[in-house]
Amino acid sequence: MAARTNRAVWQDGFGVPGVVRSSRLATTDELGDNKVLVKVHAWAINPCDYMLQDRNMGPAYPMILGCDVAGTVEAVAPGSTAASQFRVGDRVFGFTANNGFQDYVALEAKLMAKIPGDMAYREPVVVGLCIATSAMLLFGKDYLHLDYPKLGAPKKGKSVLVWGGSSAVGSNAIQLVTAAGYDVIATCSKTNFDYVKTLGAVQVFDYKDPDVTEKIAAELDKGECAGIFMAAGLKDGNVAACKVAGAAKQTIKLASSNFIDSLDGVPEGVDVKQPPPANLKPFPDCWFETTPATFGGYLPEALAKGAYKVAPPPLVVSKKGLEGIQEAVDMQRVIAEKGQDGIREAVNRVKGGIKEGNVSPVKLVVERA
Ligand SMILES: NC(=O)c1ccc[n+]([C@@H]2O[C@H](COP(=O)([O-])OP(=O)(O)OC[C@H]3O[C@@H](n4cnc5c(N)ncnc54)[C@H](OP(=O)(O)O)[C@@H]3O)[C@@H](O)[C@H]2O)c1
Repeated sequence: MAARTNRAVWQDGFGVPGVVRSSRLATTDELGDNKVLVKVHAWAINPCDYMLQDRNMGPAYPMILGCDVAGTVEAVAPGSTAASQFRVGDRVFGFTANNGFQDYVALEAKLMAKIPGDMAYREPVVVGLCIATSAMLLFGKDYLHLDYPKLGAPKKGKSVLVWGGSSAVGSNAIQLVTAAGYDVIATCSKTNFDYVKTLGAVQVFDYKDPDVTEKIAAELDKGECAGIFMAAGLKDGNVAACKVAGAAKQTIKLASSNFIDSLDGVPEGVDVKQPPPANLKPFPDCWFETTPATFGGYLPEALAKGAYKVAPPPLVVSKKGLEGIQEAVDMQRVIAEKGQDGIREAVNRVKGGIKEGNVSPVKLVVERA
């Protein structure tokens, strides 16, 4: 058998396309007790991929971007903790904070799970980073500290606001919070109302409505609100969600999926919990605490039973493996710039046929050739 070799999409500087060339393959010793070597069959694209490609990362170059992967287990150190969970040949999905755009990726065993049944790689690959981020901020003891999701959880009679419910992070947050027994109130554009309701939101508000702050605050104050989760990430969205907390009569905890670099406009007394690197544990430790909601418990079980939806659904934009990654990252950048029009452009490039009208959120995926 030919010796395995590895390749990656290398980022050699900022504002330039990634370049495919060889990369190191982790040895079994390097995998150690906790890591698993995965041969990747599908990569999902996240907004952070184009954001980091465009941002000056100083001394980090050359670096490898990419977070979400699915594939087969290629190696695991014999006798290791990881080997007690995964065997060579297992079909798995998971994520890593960068380093994902490679043919072979070493994943933390705690941040991966087996793919249920015969589900195609393109499905679970879209979930990893978004569910892990949502879980950290929703259930982590330093953030909203909500109760964990479980199959058949009883209703709690408390609400949680997910601001940016149609985003990829929001799509996962709505499902996790609903599965924990809370009533989700979400915001998104009118075109996505039905989409977020299919994920479990019981009420949806248009964040572009000029009276949205007062309307949502009044709704939350009808009962107890267990927290506000900001999943849209944009600065104005962060501040808008904080204004709801400021307008409500009760004191509500608030956590954001994104670092807020300016707190201008945030009402006095509103405390926003922010993710690393702004706060608390560094990557990847920050995700380990809440794996009972993700890879280490609820997620694989709920996926297998069809209780958890893969959302947003995957849109396979390339089957060229690493050679298709840059094209997909460029498409993600266009979606961020143009919103609905960008999604329509991406869908038309792949499938054609959509001239006008609404398009639901999608998650861009690249498959191995
Ligand atoms: N800390 C971490 O580990 C981590 C990991 C992943 C993501 N993130 C952050 O989480 C955020 C969401 O990421 P994502 O991948 O889920 O993004 P995404 O899928 O690209 O989300 C885009 C959607 O956000 C909605 N949106 C935009 N502005 C909004 C606003 N002002 N109010 C409410 N909704 C708004 C829009 O929904 P409509 O189309 O309905 O208008 C848009 O379609 C990003 O800022 C990202 O950087 C953080």
